[in-house]
Amino acid sequence: MSVKPFLDYPPLKTIIEPFRVRSVEPICFSTPEERRAALAAAGYNPFLLRADQVTIDLLTDSGTGAMSSRQWAGMIASDESYAGATSFYKFEAAVKDIFGFKHVIPTHQGRAAERILASVAVKPGDVVPSNTHFDTTRANIEYARAEARDLVIAEGRQPQVIHPFKGNMDLDRLRRTIAEVGRERIPFVMLTITNNSGGGQPVSLANIRAVSEIAHEHGIPFIIDACRFAENSWFIKTREDGYADKSTLEIAREIFSYADGCTMSAKKDGMANIGGFLALNDDDLALHCRNLLILTEGFPTYGGMAGYDMEAIAVGLYEALDENYLRYRVRSIMYLAEKLTAAGVPIVQPPGGHALYLDGRAMLPHIPDHQYPAWSLANALYLAGGIRSVEIGTVMFGQQPDGSERPAPLDLVRLAFPRRVYMQSHFDYLAEAILLVHDRREQITGHRIVWQAPFLRHFTARLEPVR
Ligand code: F0G
Repeated sequence: MSVKPFLDYPPLKTIIEPFRVRSVEPICFSTPEERRAALAAAGYNPFLLRADQVTIDLLTDSGTGAMSSRQWAGMIASDESYAGATSFYKFEAAVKDIFGFKHVIPTHQGRAAERILASVAVKPGDVVPSNTHFDTTRANIEYARAEARDLVIAEGRQPQVIHPFKGNMDLDRLRRTIAEVGRERIPFVMLTITNNSGGGQPVSLANIRAVSEIAHEHGIPFIIDACRFAENSWFIKTREDGYADKSTLEIAREIFSYADGCTMSAKKDGMANIGGFLALNDDDLALHCRNLLILTEGFPTYGGMAGYDMEAIAVGLYEALDENYLRYRVRSIMYLAEKLTAAGVPIVQPPGGHALYLDGRAMLPHIPDHQYPAWSLANALYLAGGIRSVEIGTVMFGQQPDGSERPAPLDLVRLAFPRRVYMQSHFDYLAEAILLVHDRREQITGHRIVWQAPFLRHFTARLEPVR
């Protein structure tokens, strides 16, 4: 007797948000007049806007994600003991399982891990090579009176060039830097995955392996800035030969197996609102870092985090590696990129894992570098649609230690996407606003700085439009 078989349907192609919503947060709307007044009051600096003056907030993907019901469950059941909290041991076990390092030093966020590492390991006159240092990493190295040197491949500096791993380090330049500077003045080599300041571009496993080999040949430790390790793992899975059948977890483990440690901001691929860690294999270095941790962050089983933060991260690190989530995340950014590219909007190609970058210099050629085209574009997006983005260009990176200014190699506007927060209609709204600004780009004017801090000026600078 034969059983009637089920109909055989092909797999569906629509990629959907791999979650449903059970707690919502209202979005704020404003009129064009309200936005003009708000921007003027904020010194034409989107960092100084109040969040309730913003409709779609793409300032950062850092600490802005939506947490899952499992993360909340962990948070409610947290252990807030000062020393030896079970929440710490869950956090430590997750970090060791994924990253594989011997010592896990909790910190309140990524830059605290960077500061501790730089304070302990970096001497005045040292050079720290990376693909591209993120601004806080650069500032912490410069604060230790050392040089943060960016060695990304040439393609990584050319916004329109399509390359699967534009975050790769130029290996010849790394070898030349080591030969020129000498091993004694290089405390460690870094790689930022994905390369945030270079357009959110991934680094291939072949490049990670090669950087590790070169550093280790010279006895130099290799440290990874791991903020977006899960997105980088997904790009390796989908773009690098030989990894399609490996899970993102396996890929992540392989990445970190080549390194001696990492700094991590759990506000990104830790899926948490706050937190981070420094993880290291070297006992002696870890000991010194823990001593400094106690002085400035907290006891080694919390390091500036609440127990519930560590619970959120212990769950979040695995959720960030979920392949349905990563597929949806990368696809939704690509969806926006396709709409913009079809209309001729210049973006960094291909779009990154956490963000899409508009090329300010290419879109606004009538605005000279010293009047900040990308900054001016970011302000236009706010005026058009209440969209808050961030300039990654000359205001952020142009200020030199001696007080002079140099145009940044790329002058970009970053639209960074909070994790699990915005849906497809928000992306359609964004596309409409960006296309409107693009259509009227010739009317956008530049800006000048009227006040700035001596370093990391973009956070607090006040500007005015050039009329
Ligand atoms: N490294 C990278 C690559 C980052 O993107 C960030 C933060 C940090 C380190 C520092 O981590 O904020 O936890 O202290 N990036 C945020 C951003 C601020 O908007 O890209 P943190």
